[in-house]
Amino acid sequence: MNIFRTKVTEHSAVRGELKRCLSAFDLTLLGIGAIIGAGIFVLTGIAAATKAGPAIVMSYTIAGIACSFAALSYAELSSSIGGSGSAYGYAYAGLGEIIAWIIGWDLILEYGIGACAVAIGWSGYVNDAFLSLGIMIPKQLLMSPAEGGIVNLPAMLIILLISGVLTLGVKQSARFNMLIVFIKLAAISIFVATALMDVKPQYWKPFMPFGFTGVVEGAALVFFAFIGFDAVSTAAEEANNPQKDLSIGIVGSLAICTLIYIVVSGLLTGIVSYTTLNTQSPVADAMLSLGHHVIADIVAFGAIAGLTSVMLIFIYGLTRVLYSMSKDGLLPIGFSKTHPKTQTPVKVILFSGLIMSLISGLFSMKEVAELVNIGTLAAFVIVCISVIFLRYTKPNLPRPFKTPFCPWVPLLGVLSCGYLMFSLPWVTWLRFLIWMAIGLVVYFSYSYSHSKLTDKISI
Ligand code: ALA
Repeated sequence: MNIFRTKVTEHSAVRGELKRCLSAFDLTLLGIGAIIGAGIFVLTGIAAATKAGPAIVMSYTIAGIACSFAALSYAELSSSIGGSGSAYGYAYAGLGEIIAWIIGWDLILEYGIGACAVAIGWSGYVNDAFLSLGIMIPKQLLMSPAEGGIVNLPAMLIILLISGVLTLGVKQSARFNMLIVFIKLAAISIFVATALMDVKPQYWKPFMPFGFTGVVEGAALVFFAFIGFDAVSTAAEEANNPQKDLSIGIVGSLAICTLIYIVVSGLLTGIVSYTTLNTQSPVADAMLSLGHHVIADIVAFGAIAGLTSVMLIFIYGLTRVLYSMSKDGLLPIGFSKTHPKTQTPVKVILFSGLIMSLISGLFSMKEVAELVNIGTLAAFVIVCISVIFLRYTKPNLPRPFKTPFCPWVPLLGVLSCGYLMFSLPWVTWLRFLIWMAIGLVVYFSYSYSHSKLTDKISI
């Protein structure tokens, strides 16, 4: 048994089974669509009120810096290796099949469970919107069984709806994404313009009420807000010019969102006391408390749009990872069949949509969200290690984009993401290890024997 067998890689540009239609601009929007969501609209308030206080801007800066090391590593590997499987494909080329499997299984967790967490948050926002229109959804249809309900129906429906949109085709999905990205950016701009006139510097004092430990714990929490830039790399087989455009999409979207987060979190803690921000919709609530009712509605609408686009990209990313794993034989072949007309993997989209819909209907936000950060951080660590490893094992691999100051930048990525991982609670680690153990059982009972690498080639 050779579990360290690696794949001879061929850049996705020369394969091209999926339809190429995404420009650098589309990819940057894809990144922004995946990044800005529940993190800034919900977690900022919780992190400011319970962890960092007004120093939440520092938490965002720390998490943003950790992500930038990983983003530069992603940019190098997506430009040199490519493939719709993202970190899974890079690990396959650099670190061997078993590590690739582990990372693929991990990405299923990040994208699949991440989308469920956002769907549950979306359901809460939509319920608020319905309430303000005087429409009551019965509580039993808004909560998971563990919370005393029957199912979270809105969460289930939105996952099914978005899966349906994705089966229509990638260009249509990219257009739909562009529309919602513009809505959420407009809502954020209106918030920023309004808040700028209401800032009272005394709210920034004390700046660090929970000390520097609180700032770092806040960073581990708001890390969630940055998850998603990596999803751009899953579009490698649909990008017009993947070698160049993927790096622009990954680094560009992360830089834009980091700037937005620092501005929004700084203003939010400057217009109301951080102690009031631990609510379901802190950004809209802050506007309400200042008497800006219409702006509050616009912000809430932008948040709903924001969460919708995050789910869209996450489900898109999930289906592309499953597609790649299936093409390599590690998952049943039916997962990589594309529909002749839409050229999208319709079966895999519908199958994963159905499972995610059930999970978001039956579990609470807390249960599903805790796992997402640890899974993503693990993927980032492996991507950074792959960059260093491949520089030594395959020095001549064409690298249209090179991570600067290698190995220091990827090494800093490993250290900073590893540090954030170890700041997470032990129960999260336990759940993560259980998921990974299930993955290894699947690998050894199915994937190893069905892998396309039957001749066990090594590079
Ligand atoms: N970054 C995504 C969000 O904040 C996961 O919703």
